[in-house]
Amino acid sequence: MPALARRRPPPVDKLSTTRDNLRKLLLSWYDQNGREMPWRVRNGRADAYRVWLSEVMLQQTTVAAVGPYFSRFLERWPDVAALAAAPRDDLLGAWAGLGYYSRARNLHAAAQLLAANGLPQDEAGWRALPGVGAYTAAAIAAIALDQPANVVDGNVERVMARLYAVEAPLPQAKAELRERAGALVTAQRPGDWAQALMDLGATLCTPKAPKCDACPWRKACAAYAGGAPESYPRRAAKAERPQRYGVAYRIEREGALWLVRRPDAGLLGGMAALPTTEWRGKKWTRAEALQQAPAEAGWKKVGAVAHVFTHFALALDVYAADAEPSGEGWWGEANVLPTVFKKAAHTGRKG
Ligand code: ADE
Repeated sequence: MPALARRRPPPVDKLSTTRDNLRKLLLSWYDQNGREMPWRVRNGRADAYRVWLSEVMLQQTTVAAVGPYFSRFLERWPDVAALAAAPRDDLLGAWAGLGYYSRARNLHAAAQLLAANGLPQDEAGWRALPGVGAYTAAAIAAIALDQPANVVDGNVERVMARLYAVEAPLPQAKAELRERAGALVTAQRPGDWAQALMDLGATLCTPKAPKCDACPWRKACAAYAGGAPESYPRRAAKAERPQRYGVAYRIEREGALWLVRRPDAGLLGGMAALPTTEWRGKKWTRAEALQQAPAEAGWKKVGAVAHVFTHFALALDVYAADAEPSGEGWWGEANVLPTVFKKAAHTGRKG
């Protein structure tokens, strides 16, 4: 057989990997298949307040979970001035259930600055606000200001790792992935471009079982050509999540719960909560749980709650009693509580 005939085809179609071709393919795909979202505007600038609010809510949270919160916030606080004027507790209460509560505290602090100084007109101005990281500032610049910012989130990293079959594992590969994403950004439709990449990552180029058959970049994708696109991005072995233990105390009167405020600085900072012990690496005995209780009473263990936070898993025993609480606190409703305490408020009940 002549040598030429034995030569393998190139792994990807080189012509399809030029920047302009990649852009054309993805933007036409987005025009047809991009998701409808309440804060989205096609082919133009979206309102910066709505984009800021949505992007902060979307940090570490799915589009599906954010939808109803976004609508409720906008209805209640239609602009920056309204949000800035809201008592912080109203905002924290409305945020309950969305998680990562420092976002709500930062949102409130940033709203004061925005109301006083006006909305920034560039990426650096947004980046300077509390709760606005590199990703969020870039997203706002691209989507609301129509500026060619390089918007890189986990979706975009995954898409780049696959498109170019980047072998370096995360997190070391971050700089390379960012650079590759940046090389595809132009001044044309920057907001649509950023959101097209995100949608591609969220709907087709998913972490597991990517839908390559439907992908506009299939011919250009080095990981697809290699036969195992789902194996990108490569990852360094992960440390296991440590287990922590705590006890929560439920005191109830006429449907109201005894609530305390968590310290601003820690996890779930500033949020309403059931009184709890410290969360530590060792289980709490019943004797210890009673000793730490916020009042002397006939405490009964009514159940336990398991909750996974980013950096640890929590097993929270729930004790209930008809007690006379002491210390700082107030009678309130379960619906203003973060999810872990909502679970504790309902554990051991029928229905
Ligand atoms: N995730 C975060 N921001 C997003 C956006 N604007 N569109 C789609 N997914 C997102």
